[in-house]
Amino acid sequence: MKSNLSIQSVLAKFDKNLDGIIKEDIPVLKKIKKHVISSGGKRIRPFSHYLFCQFLNVKDTSWLDVGSVAELIHAASLLHDDVVDNAPIRRGKPTIGTLFGNKTAILAGDYLLACGISRLNSLGNPELMEIFSQVLKDLSVSELLQMEWEKNPKINLKVYDSIIYGKTASLFGVCTESAAILANKSKKERALIRDFGVRLGKLFQKKDDCLDYFVESSASGKEFLKDFKNGLYTYPVLVLRENLSFLEKKKLESVFKKEERSVTDETYILDLMESKKVSEKLHKELGAEKKYLLGFLNQFPASAERQLFVEQLDRLT
Ligand code: FPP
Ligand code: MG
Repeated sequence: MKSNLSIQSVLAKFDKNLDGIIKEDIPVLKKIKKHVISSGGKRIRPFSHYLFCQFLNVKDTSWLDVGSVAELIHAASLLHDDVVDNAPIRRGKPTIGTLFGNKTAILAGDYLLACGISRLNSLGNPELMEIFSQVLKDLSVSELLQMEWEKNPKINLKVYDSIIYGKTASLFGVCTESAAILANKSKKERALIRDFGVRLGKLFQKKDDCLDYFVESSASGKEFLKDFKNGLYTYPVLVLRENLSFLEKKKLESVFKKEERSVTDETYILDLMESKKVSEKLHKELGAEKKYLLGFLNQFPASAERQLFVEQLDRLT
């Protein structure tokens, strides 16, 4: 594949390709297509697929479709997720559910998914079909697992890890592993490259969970403390809980058990996070993981794309 494409031109290629994959022209789908393509998404999944195709010197032109399908699956899962979470905004804009209603959001998500699978099928590569089908199962199973566990005080870091594997890391793993498939790499190399994607996805999701407690809405594009208001045991809370005494844990659980959390509860959790230095602990842990990922990338030759990916990694994590 060409190595001298500018990043903007690569992202524009993905956008154009997405435009061709989502063909339906009934008015509501046209609007949703526009919303999906111009949603301000960072295209980090297709970009990581592209980057690994570059690293592995992939000759197969399927990379454009594979990266686009990954983005479509991501977009479809977010349409469904915003219904599940009853979310009014995403990336600072009203969700499809808010604009057109939840029924439309679900059906549009199904449609995007069908478009993606149909394009993937046309590539005639059973190995790709297999890993992408698995990702769809992982996404759905992990959302169910999350619903089962998120308000349960017995949730632990192992369960949390399975949830974030399925809802985020599995698709990141597929983005990198599919590049190794297109490059005809051995099973062992495939596994190593997949592992990079999985670790990147987990880091990404943990960081996303941290935004809820440590970044104001204006900077994150999400409602501040939304997860807390919803009584969800996300990563910062699980890390906080590890650092609490028995009595402090009981108090934390009683706050999470309430029907609704008050402004006083918000002050309580923020003060507790601060006194137990959760932000510093997370910064250290996520920083170490980021260092590993950057080290992994360094084994490949330096390029403008690698540099941009490193910058994205810096910004997102
Ligand atoms: C975001 O998590 C959720 C996901 C990345 C996955 C959602 C998956 C489904 C709803 C299953 C349906 C699957 C398919 C393939 C259609 P979050 O709510 O923690 O993050 P957020 O703050 O970005 O909403
Ligand atoms: Mg959500």
